[in-house]
Parts: sequence; C-alpha cells; structure tokens
Amino acid sequence: MIFIDACFGKKTPYTPVWMMRQAGRYLSEYKEVRKKAGDFLSLCKNPSLACEVTLQPIDILDVDAAILFSDILVVPLEMGMDLKFVSGVGPVFDNPIKNALDVDALDSVSSHERLGYVYEAIKLIRNELSPDKALIGFCGAPWTLATYMIEGQGTKTYAKCKKMLYQNPALLHVILQKVTDVLKLYLEEQIKAGVNAVQIFDSWASALEQEAYMNFSWIYIKQICDYLKSKYPHIPIIVFPKGISGYLDKIDGNFDVFGVDWSTPMELAKQKLGSKYVLQGNMEPTRLYDKKAIKYGVEKIVDIMQNQRHIFNLGHGILPDIPVDNAKYFINLAKEKTAIS
Ligand code: CP3
Repeated sequence: MIFIDACFGKKTPYTPVWMMRQAGRYLSEYKEVRKKAGDFLSLCKNPSLACEVTLQPIDILDVDAAILFSDILVVPLEMGMDLKFVSGVGPVFDNPIKNALDVDALDSVSSHERLGYVYEAIKLIRNELSPDKALIGFCGAPWTLATYMIEGQGTKTYAKCKKMLYQNPALLHVILQKVTDVLKLYLEEQIKAGVNAVQIFDSWASALEQEAYMNFSWIYIKQICDYLKSKYPHIPIIVFPKGISGYLDKIDGNFDVFGVDWSTPMELAKQKLGSKYVLQGNMEPTRLYDKKAIKYGVEKIVDIMQNQRHIFNLGHGILPDIPVDNAKYFINLAKEKTAIS
C-alpha cells in the first residue's frame, strides 16, 4: 500500500492522496444513500450502507486511502450521551455535561463494545476494498470531543468548557481521561477489525492557548499514541491538531504523520516537523472551487515537499458544494505532479 509506505517515510512512485470528509454531501451518490438511511446517525449505524459510502470516493476519485464513514461523536453517544444531528445546527447533545454527577454517569468501561456497528463496517469495507488501498480509522481527540460534550453543540467561544478549564480543571481532566480510556480501546478494536492506519482529529485545538493545549489536549493524544504504538507499531498514527502553527516546535510524540491544516504554511511545518514526521496536507479546501486555484495550490505544495515524506490532502474537510469534477482534478493533478518519471 503506497499510502502506508508514505506514512512511514518510505519512497513511493508518487505522493499518495486522499481528502478529509471525502465521503460526503458533495457526492450525489452519497446523498442518495443518506436518503435511503433516513438520517445521518442511522447511516453511521448501518454497516452495509456505511461501507457503501466509504467506498464511493475510491471508485469515483481513485484516492489512495478510504476513510471509514462514521463520526467522531459516536463515542460520546455510546458513553451515554443523547446525540442528535439537527439540520442547520449540526450535532446537538440534549444533556451536556455540567457537573461531577454528569461525569460520573459517563460510561468508560463498556462503551467501546457498544460501537460494534463501526467494527462491522470496517470488516465489510476491508473485505471489499482493493488490497493496494489503505483503510483509515479515526477518532476525535479527547479535547475536541469534550467541547461538544460540555457545550452541547458547536461553539464559537468555547465559553462553557473554558469556564470549566479555569474554575474546575480537575473535573475537565476527569472527562478527558474517561474519553481517552474509551478512545484507546475504540481505536484498538478498529485496528483488530482491519483498519491500516488511524487519524486523531483535534479540530478545535486552536481554541486553547499553548500551555492549556499541552495540558488539556496534547497529553491525552500522546497517551493514545503510546498505548497503540506499544501494541501495534506497524499501524501508522496520523495526528491533526488544527490551528497550532505558533508552537509546532513543542509538538512531539509517538506518532508517524502530522496533518498540517491549511492555515499553517507548509514551509513552516516542514522546517519545524518535517525531519521527524511525515507531513499530510494542506491544500486550502476552498481552492477546490476553481481549477486555476487548484493548480496553483498543488504546484506550490509540490514545490515545497518534492514528493518526500508527504501525503497529499486538503488542510481541512471538503465542502458540500464543491464540484466533483474539481475534486477529481485535484486528485489527478496531485498524483501527476508528484510522479517519478
Ligand atoms: O472524512 C470522511 O469522509 C469520514 C467521515 C467523517 C465525518 N465526520 C462524516 C460526517 C469524519 C472523519 C468526521 C469527523 C468529524 N465530525 C469532525 C472532525 C473533522 C473535522 O471536520 O474537523 C467533527 C468536528 C465532526 C462533528 C460533526 N459531524 C459536525 C460538526 C457535523 C455537521 C457538519 C455539517 O456540515 O453539517 C457532522 C456531521 C457529518 N459528519 C457529516 C458527514 C458526512 C454531514 C452529515 C450529513 O450527511 O448531513
């Protein structure tokens, strides 16, 4: 699998490419299956439909890796929280965590067992996916998950979780540790079911100052990496802490690939982390609206990375109104421009 070789920094015939959120609403085929499932969560819980949408971008775009179709929030759901996806709002928890009693009620012992529908989907996908394509499993970082669990939904200010961080840091640590304990077992079960790599999404890393980020997020990500690497050293780990370009030199841990978000200059990431970790990214996702913008973006990244220690990706998820033809153009151009002639 050229994707896995690239994760470990081996030379590959071209730089492998995939896109965050590649199975999603910009594909009419996705929207059809989503309609059949009824709603988004039912799609996540239906292994054969989840398998079908996971494979769509492989067939349509010929990306080098499939990413399991699911959502980071199925973990708090199976820890006992009441998750809904409300159209126009996004994910909503009706019973957000406010106090120690709410935290006590979170299950961290058997939640990973209730996520069986994810492992079933992985088995189906790995069985149908061509052997040269990698399957990426994933989870949200404990901090990013905690923001939803405490705020009850997406937030611009992170007011509730940051109030907890200052007023009751011990309680926040209990939440983060409980989530971390579940995530270790959850990713382990994903590996046992057949994923070839895992990615940890810390989409809301930038909400914290450097010191708080290290203490409330990064240490938990490191715990997960240490746990997995001690048992499954052959499974590459990709981390994606979004928006922390100011202190990349402080980032260090037992992972293989650092996902560079679009707001971080690739040159800077290469300079600070490139010798130690393979870099993934980081095309600005809205470049996909325009072919000239795509070409400029791809060429710029190729110029910096030179088909070395790099995995092509967007610097965050693909948007729902991107023309499929432009996504294809991006994938093909990334492969073409990095191919060894
Ligand atoms: O990348 C993939 O193709 C795999 C599937 C995947 C989804 N969500 C499917 C999804 C992955 C890896 C995620 C991760 C996820 N989910 C993150 C971290 C990554 C990131 O983008 O920063 C976060 C923060 C979430 C939480 C979440 N799920 C939100 C905020 C939303 C609403 C977004 C929106 O645009 O409505 C979701 C729903 C969701 N997850 C959709 C998809 C395809 C859209 C649901 C639909 O079909 O209506």
